[in-house]
Amino acid sequence: YVVGIDLGTSAVKILLVNQSGEVCQEVSRAYPLIQEKSGYSEQRPEEWVEKTIDGLAELVRDFKGHPNDIQGISFSGQMHGLVLLNKENEILRNAILWNDTRTTKQCEKINEIVGKERLLEITKNPALEGFTLPKLLWVKEFEPEIYNQAAVFLLPKDYLRYRLTGEIHTEYSDATGTLLLNVKEKQWSEELCTKFDIPLHLCPPIVESHDCVGTITEEVSILTGLSREVKVFAGGADNACGAIGSGILKEGNTLCSIGTSGVVLSYEEHGEQDFKGKVHYFNHSKEDAFYSMGVTLAAGYSLSWFKDTFAEGVNFEQLLEDVDLVSIGSNGLMFTPYLVGERTPHADSIIRGCFIGMDAAHKRSDFTRAVMEGITFSLNESIEIFRNNGKRIDSIISIGGGAKNPIWLQMQADIFNATIIKLSSEQGPGMGAAMLAAYGCNWFESLEACAEEFIKPITSYKPVSENVKQYEKLYSIYKQIYSSTKELN
Ligand code: XUL
Repeated sequence: YVVGIDLGTSAVKILLVNQSGEVCQEVSRAYPLIQEKSGYSEQRPEEWVEKTIDGLAELVRDFKGHPNDIQGISFSGQMHGLVLLNKENEILRNAILWNDTRTTKQCEKINEIVGKERLLEITKNPALEGFTLPKLLWVKEFEPEIYNQAAVFLLPKDYLRYRLTGEIHTEYSDATGTLLLNVKEKQWSEELCTKFDIPLHLCPPIVESHDCVGTITEEVSILTGLSREVKVFAGGADNACGAIGSGILKEGNTLCSIGTSGVVLSYEEHGEQDFKGKVHYFNHSKEDAFYSMGVTLAAGYSLSWFKDTFAEGVNFEQLLEDVDLVSIGSNGLMFTPYLVGERTPHADSIIRGCFIGMDAAHKRSDFTRAVMEGITFSLNESIEIFRNNGKRIDSIISIGGGAKNPIWLQMQADIFNATIIKLSSEQGPGMGAAMLAAYGCNWFESLEACAEEFIKPITSYKPVSENVKQYEKLYSIYKQIYSSTKELN
């Protein structure tokens, strides 16, 4: 068996997977976001560690086999978050997360000092609030007493792995989201570090996602019941792991993942493709490969915000139970999911979302459907960028919470005008982490061979041409909302 730990934004999800790729056990523990001000989003790294250890202990307690049968562990993690440690490797402040947008000024400064073109050449990405470098510069500017004590920064799952093993590393698929990595050369950019006066030692050593970085500590073994022999593999960024766990391993493969954020991701064999920064371009968790990706910041988050704000005490299943009774277009209601700003295609941290077209006859189910449609329209804007850049997208694998609901899957097929494929498990990132451990344990000679064994498509949803036409009209209206509401903020 192997364990895949997905350190998400709303919860840590832990999967126990056997040699045929079947999920034998699943444990999850939730934790909150700390949102002190509009645009702020933080978490307590210690809470990630506590919840993971607690979840692992439950998993091992309920495990029918012997703990020694669990051979490997790996990780998937929310990207870009800044975790700062002092020279004793102690946490200096809360982690600042990927959906925190306080750093607009720092992004402007990055563009000023490096120049947009040069930044794209080195990192293949523009300066965006969510990335790690702007967060580091924010701490440097506003919390110098903390910054001056910093000995190293880590990404969220790297901190968790450090606490389980005592070893400090990052790996390429998360290093790439810092805006400090030379993406093609696969090394920290000395040029960028020098320009921002960031000592190179703040950047952790980088390994490959499937590299074994050690074993768990004695303390963690006692707390969880896991064997001290269990091998720990570096793991990857959640989107890279989501891609691995969905078999996105060759050109032409496309993924749509609707979790807290929503992404549309496309495999890239080389670092050569040039989207001029319109979509992200990151190192994959498969060695020397890449992926391009558009991001909707508040995808599943929009739906959970709606549920928590207007449907207290109701679970997702109950919330979605009557959306199929509402027709396409939600009876004239439209939603833009810009609750915390937007990345693709607008790269605008100030814009905020809206409902448009409210009618006294609308019911909660109209609003729920409008939220689902708005999220999916937003993701379609990323698909449009890919198509406009010559990518053919006929079929898309769908994972995450958005892949649990058949109405939403059909909606994706109709809005994206592509066949949507659902896999036996929609837990892409956790499965990807488990696959990195399985490959690292030498169960398979390649990730592709592992994917062949582990990943099973179970259903597909074909676009219905009448629906596609209706959505096309609505989508063209949706796209106008951004510019006409921009001035509101
Ligand atoms: C990607 C991004 C999000 C997080 C979610 O750039 O910021 O998708 O990785 O965990």
